[in-house]
Amino acid sequence: MERKFVFGTAVTDYNFTGRSKETERLKTAFRSGINVILMSARRLGKTSLVKHVCQQLKSEEIITVYLDIFSCKSEYDFYNKLATEVLKQTASRKELWLDEAKDFMLRLAPKISLSPNPTSEFSIALGITPKTHSPEEVLSLAENIAVRKQKRIVVCIDEFQQIGEMDNSAQVQARLRAIWQHQKHVSYCLFGSKRHLMSSIFLHRSMPFYQFGDLIALEKISTKEWVEYIVSHFADGNKIITNEQAESICTFVDNYSSYVQQLAWILYTQTKEGEGVTEESVNIAKQDLLNVNEILFMQMVEPLSEYQFNFLRAVVNGVHSDFGLAEIRETYKLGSYSNIARLKKALLERDIITSENKTITLTDPVFEQWFKRKMM
Ligand SMILES: Nc1ncnc2c1ncn2[C@@H]1O[C@H](COP(=O)(O)OP(=O)(O)OP(=O)(O)O)[C@@H](O)[C@H]1O
Ligand SMILES: [Mg+2]
Repeated sequence: MERKFVFGTAVTDYNFTGRSKETERLKTAFRSGINVILMSARRLGKTSLVKHVCQQLKSEEIITVYLDIFSCKSEYDFYNKLATEVLKQTASRKELWLDEAKDFMLRLAPKISLSPNPTSEFSIALGITPKTHSPEEVLSLAENIAVRKQKRIVVCIDEFQQIGEMDNSAQVQARLRAIWQHQKHVSYCLFGSKRHLMSSIFLHRSMPFYQFGDLIALEKISTKEWVEYIVSHFADGNKIITNEQAESICTFVDNYSSYVQQLAWILYTQTKEGEGVTEESVNIAKQDLLNVNEILFMQMVEPLSEYQFNFLRAVVNGVHSDFGLAEIRETYKLGSYSNIARLKKALLERDIITSENKTITLTDPVFEQWFKRKMM
């Protein structure tokens, strides 16, 4: 039986809603070979959207390759992952991908090992190292395959901000860009969270990936779409929620995708079949949402210094700019004028605050609610 509400993993089909404009925009870009950079705060729906688009393009003459590079800590970790997924996902016969791989890449030394991943019994490491393969060789692989198969390939790389965390990050970026920009049959969809890292890769004039492609900042799913989704999914389980109650779920979490689903799920489980949601149960569910996330929130505040903490208090109290003013620094005990830039930088790097048009807000609306109740 399908879950009525899903959070924490990418969603598809029954659990996927909205995003029609973004879906079309990505499909057009993928079909025309335009590179795309997709950015948003955490858990808004990047992975779900890209997988949704890849799914929809399945029947077309385009091969999409999806890879998540969250676990890649070094340049060659990335090359191994890239080569493996490109070879696997472009193979004509999936089960024979390793045989086919040998046609496209020389000197492979695949090693089969038991996988820590419970969904597959073993994993295959291609054994690509600086001694066996140059970066150029790996980075040209997709283009060579596309030419040989006479198909367009779109390589979608999730958690791309990891590239920004590598020791030789600038050098890696320069290498990727230098090769990718000349490819005629392959385009890229690069996406990830951690705003400061993604920005440092894509929004800085001096960096290789500046203006690499069509930049999309993923917006929130609209209240109207969420209300329809919530009301109909309650109804599927023979439970009743009013439009206003569904709307109040959205407001509480500021339309933040994963929290909308999580809060709806909590409320859904607390509602009996054949019955309707009550005001009281909505309030209890909201409190429960804060409680179940408390461990994560505690982890976020634990490492903060007193000044950083005070800075958050100021933001939660409605201060969004001009932190340097003497009055604000004194009211919230933020220290010296020069301290302000340091505080901002540290909190931006932790992704706790977001800065847009010089306005500072907390990144996570539910964390904000929790902070307001517990830390003020
Ligand atoms: N289109 C959608 N329809 C319904 N729910 C969605 C949609 N997109 C995202 N969600 C909700 O948000 C959660 C997170 O989605 P997803 O993992 O795609 O986001 P993300 O931006 O890739 O997150 P992360 O920053 O952690 O990589 C999902 O588990 C689901 O609850
Ligand atoms: Mg994701």
